[in-house]
Amino acid sequence: MTVIPVKMKKTVLVSGGVGFIGSHVTVELIEAGYDVVVADNFSNCDRTCYEGVKKITGREDIPLVEMDFCDLAAVRKIFADYPIDAVIHFAAFKAVGESVAKPLMYYRNNLTSFLNVLEAAQEKGGVNVLFSSSATVYGEPDAVPVTENTPRKPATSPYGNTKTMCEDILRDTVKASGGALKGILLRYFNPIGAHPSALIGELPRGVPNNLVPYITQTAVGKRECLSIFGNDYPTEDGTCLRDYIDIVDLAKAHVFAVTRMVEGKMKQDCEVFNIGTGRPVSVLELVNAFEKVNGVKVPHKFAPRRAGDVTAIWADPTLANEEMGWKATRSVEETLAAAWAWEKHLAGK
Ligand code: UFG
Repeated sequence: MTVIPVKMKKTVLVSGGVGFIGSHVTVELIEAGYDVVVADNFSNCDRTCYEGVKKITGREDIPLVEMDFCDLAAVRKIFADYPIDAVIHFAAFKAVGESVAKPLMYYRNNLTSFLNVLEAAQEKGGVNVLFSSSATVYGEPDAVPVTENTPRKPATSPYGNTKTMCEDILRDTVKASGGALKGILLRYFNPIGAHPSALIGELPRGVPNNLVPYITQTAVGKRECLSIFGNDYPTEDGTCLRDYIDIVDLAKAHVFAVTRMVEGKMKQDCEVFNIGTGRPVSVLELVNAFEKVNGVKVPHKFAPRRAGDVTAIWADPTLANEEMGWKATRSVEETLAAAWAWEKHLAGK
């Protein structure tokens, strides 16, 4: 699958562009011919990922603006300073457990930053907005795989709630704009892995909440033992099922979505796409695959279920495949090898 290069030079603002997903998206946008403006407040990322993006793309001139999207004046300024055709909004807090403990912090940050982006985009006019949503909006689905028409369910955390709320805010704002704003919501399943160059990847602060960074840190010896949360779920091996999607595949989906917007190919003013593989993988299968492909042991034990986890969720990605022409291509093994190469790079091995 090749990404079709954009016909006219267009500028994309990537908020949270130094983070895990943002940095990979920046690389893919640049490789597809877009001008990218990266903005970040470095609250949960490291400048080394910006350096990695420059190295991968061979571009020294990628603008980086250090700013907080909760500051409306700063958001207005970046929209005034650059000829922005589209904005991809990643800048948000994302730790589920922390959001339960600090809901106001999550609502204030995740809602304010997005409201500011929309305010500035609306004032400028003609801006396309891509919001990074999540499969979390489906809650515990009644049937799998989930399509975009699967009803959303109440979120199980304030973090999840901010995703649902931002989806609604974008939809309403696009509707009220009378065509001046267009929007796409991408609902990600479980993004994992790292760029094959091992120059950018996930940089969790403290103890990782997500499975793959916990696996790689255990394999490298930073953590003693992986706890597998629950082995009594009603699945074949008793562990939860997820749709793990390679971060580069996921990043490419953004290029397809932005191109669809800037080239006027949208069928509705606000569209939604599931970004997943359509392939369910259990926690145990993922751990076993990691050990096998990388030839390394991951000490693990079974532990009680984690509050708020859904038993099984994976995507029906047909709409994104057929309508956007995007498809996930990487195998779980390739992705887990890339995740391991990144962890070894971090460890200096
Ligand atoms: N898991 C473990 N041990 C760990 C970490 C995770 O067994 O140390 C299990 C979880 O119980 C779950 C699976 O691995 O079954 C995946 O867990 P992750 O935390 O990696 O991912 P989630 O599916 O829980 O999280 C994803 C997104 C979140 C989103 C959430 C909502 O990463 O952004 O879905 O369900 F909010």
